[in-house]
Amino acid sequence: MKGLVLAGGRGTRLRPITHTSAKQLVPIANRPVIFYGLESLRSAGIHEVGIVVGDTAAEVRAAIGDGSAFGLRVTYLPQQAPMGLAHGVLIARDYLGEDDFVMYLGDNFIVGGIAETVRTFGAETCDARLLLAKVPDPTQFGVAEIDENGVVLGLAEKPVRPRSDLAVVGVYLFRASIHEAVRAIEPSDRGELEITDALDWLLRTGRTVRSDVITGFWKDTGRAADLLACNQIVLDGIHRDVRGSVDADTTVTGRVVIAPGARVHRSRLVGPLIIGPGTVVDHSYVGPFTSVGRDCTVTHSELEGSIVMDGSAITGIRRIQDSLIGRDVRVAPASGVAHIHRLVLGDHSQVELAV
Ligand code: TTP
Repeated sequence: MKGLVLAGGRGTRLRPITHTSAKQLVPIANRPVIFYGLESLRSAGIHEVGIVVGDTAAEVRAAIGDGSAFGLRVTYLPQQAPMGLAHGVLIARDYLGEDDFVMYLGDNFIVGGIAETVRTFGAETCDARLLLAKVPDPTQFGVAEIDENGVVLGLAEKPVRPRSDLAVVGVYLFRASIHEAVRAIEPSDRGELEITDALDWLLRTGRTVRSDVITGFWKDTGRAADLLACNQIVLDGIHRDVRGSVDADTTVTGRVVIAPGARVHRSRLVGPLIIGPGTVVDHSYVGPFTSVGRDCTVTHSELEGSIVMDGSAITGIRRIQDSLIGRDVRVAPASGVAHIHRLVLGDHSQVELAV
């Protein structure tokens, strides 16, 4: 069985971050979100992975390389333009050959792994297997209707009147029959080859599609709030590991990871949180569920529940909360009264805030 990871796309919902970087490389606890998917494939016993890449190919390649760091053999499959998930399968035809494969959306984050589903699919004969998750608002997702045995009866993309509360998670198991399906379908109204249409084609031609309903945490990290939720989940599982320098005037409470080369002075750290290498925290409070990347500075500031990417500087701000801050961002005070700030800042932004 091979893996097919989709790491192209437009990422419009994550602008401005995606103006300059791949959304699959946004860090969750200081590691790109796509790394968790690659590890999940490896844990399911998959060794060969094709990665579909678009405009951000160079950056994705630089982060993942030949895949050996993950125990994988990676082949990059350039997609001319983001023409849909089923188009990703179409262009991977030669790479995939006649093999069964797992299609994994590179921006999806799933706790609990996919090993069980992959094993089940290997031992059965159905044409596809989907992962489904119960969601409060199915109108925002691809929705599956299933029978009591998990056999998929029908699918609908963002239905106005959903026939179930089961959203299609971004992991799909396919056999070579999907290649016929993606060739048979036409682009949708939004001009993309939709994987839902390909699955629908399988159903209409009498094939069997099965499903597993997952109960663990899952997010399609399309928006900032989703990334912060994933960050919270991962940080919740970390262990204390302080390798950087922490001076005697700093208090450290809870599970805190401070990378080698990071320096913390006269500050209060309340975990779970992670601080990357080369980062300096001075006269500041860094609170729970915060990830600060490498080579950042946090000075005379308060930061909580946020992701700060590499090379950013936060000076004299209280308090930044539930925020996603891109790379090489500068945040500094303007004049005025102190308030809570809620921010989604792209790479290289310059922001002045009322404090
Ligand atoms: P989506 O989140 O469905 O699409 P998108 O990345 O274009 O984002 P947005 O809706 O915010 O504009 O894509 C899911 C994953 O599949 C994501 O990792 C990007 C990838 N993808 C491709 O590789 N090729 C494509 O043609 C599309 C549409 C997505």
